[in-house]
Amino acid sequence: MRKVFVIGIGAGDPDHLTVQAIKALNEVDVFFVVDKGDEKAELAAVRKEICRRYATAKPYRIVEVDDPARDRTDPAYGDAVRSWHDARTEQYAELIEHEIDDGKCGAFLAWGDPSLYDSILRILCELASRSTPVFEYEVVPGISSVQVLAAKHRIPLNEIAGSVAITTGRRLASSGLPEDFDHVVVMLDGNCAFTTVTDDVDIYWGAYLGTDDEILVSGRLRDVQSDIQRRRQRARDAKGWIMDTYVLRRRRLP
Ligand SMILES: C[S@@+](CC[C@H](N)C(=O)[O-])C[C@H]1O[C@@H](n2cnc3c(N)ncnc32)[C@H](O)[C@@H]1O
Repeated sequence: MRKVFVIGIGAGDPDHLTVQAIKALNEVDVFFVVDKGDEKAELAAVRKEICRRYATAKPYRIVEVDDPARDRTDPAYGDAVRSWHDARTEQYAELIEHEIDDGKCGAFLAWGDPSLYDSILRILCELASRSTPVFEYEVVPGISSVQVLAAKHRIPLNEIAGSVAITTGRRLASSGLPEDFDHVVVMLDGNCAFTTVTDDVDIYWGAYLGTDDEILVSGRLRDVQSDIQRRRQRARDAKGWIMDTYVLRRRRLP
């Protein structure tokens, strides 16, 4: 039987690795490193550095995987994501069947925690229900960018007994701030969706969390949003890519 690990590797700092993740890394014969294009080469490099640093128990191979192209011009966003997901599913089936020998172990290294905005668990669940390839899989949790953001700003993610919503920039822009949540975490925001928010909120923003390029800004949204936009643009121009996450917290009435 082949075994596949999905190992959460944290959000950018190799020190985010848990002891459980390091134990799993040392069982692996082949690592799949997904390359999502030039701007993500640095993220692939972090994955390789993690293998070099922590997977020391036995020899292993690294298989670089090109992420299938996604049609970002398709106005039917859901359809474009679904066909990209299907292409990925077939690609991963091939990898598991042809790159992992029977009785051996492969691993996908998931950025942050694999449960959050990552398609790998949906894909493996689908593949596991097929008759081939036959494999078992295990998930090792990781430190998500959301936890790193909260830690860096030294904030809790909820009011006492309150609720937290996690959403995307796209949804925030189209539907506004979700009702009934004091705290809203926003991920995958390529277009500064916080500028569409008219509610009186504080923002806790972080980019490149856990890396040497980390940027943190916090304050009343209406006071700091231009500064965030400016710094975000400058950083993106300098590096060619950006990953940022933020929390919006409703301000209490005095
Ligand atoms: C595809 S999702 C993957 C999230 C990941 N599974 C996690 O647990 O953090 C990518 C989004 O996560 C957030 N993100 C991931 N790493 C980050 C980092 N180091 N700094 C800031 N945001 C990050 C950004 O919102 C980015 O658009």
